[in-house]
Amino acid sequence: MADGFLGTPASLMLDVVVCSLVLVVPTLLFSIYLAKFKRNFRLHKKVQLVLGVVLAVVVCLFEVDMRMQGGFDELAKDSAYFGTTLMRNVLYIHLFFSVSTVFIWIATYVTALRSFPNPIAPSAFSPKHKLMARIAVADMVATVVTGLMVYYFGFMS
Ligand code: HEM
Repeated sequence: MADGFLGTPASLMLDVVVCSLVLVVPTLLFSIYLAKFKRNFRLHKKVQLVLGVVLAVVVCLFEVDMRMQGGFDELAKDSAYFGTTLMRNVLYIHLFFSVSTVFIWIATYVTALRSFPNPIAPSAFSPKHKLMARIAVADMVATVVTGLMVYYFGFMS
């Protein structure tokens, strides 16, 4: 059922997810700016944790909604790209990035929460956190870009 608010055949939760995806990148940039230039690690930690919780809730609601609506194929069946190799490949690449993002983000949270001192400050763990975090950010950006491509090919073409 097309109950979304962006005027496409997508569902409400799909439209919510797409809007969240668009907001993820500026939020991440702001959080990195806080850590790198402002050295405000407490706020960086808060922004990252709020972002993680909001994304987890949105993605869970989205997964439930997707199943209730009959799956991606049902919603995207009127797209000009439906059933094409291009559509399938974009979807699989998006799935690869989105699933790996969940794991690397959880690992980044768990290790940061366990390894940085309280009150939070840079420590011997900093180089490892920066490496993990950069991979996590790159994976998230790839998830956002490919997610928007899935939305475009599935619901806007
Ligand atoms: C997936 C979640 C997270 C991401 C993507 C992330 C991202 C980043 C990035 C990219 C930097 C490096 C900034 C620079 O280049 O200087 C950084 C630094 C830092 N982050 Fe995170 N972060 C995350 C979660 C956390 C959490 C949960 C904490 C606290 C428990 C934390 C604490 C810090 C600290 C203390 C630094 C500064 C390290 C230093 O400059 O020595 N981060 N983070």
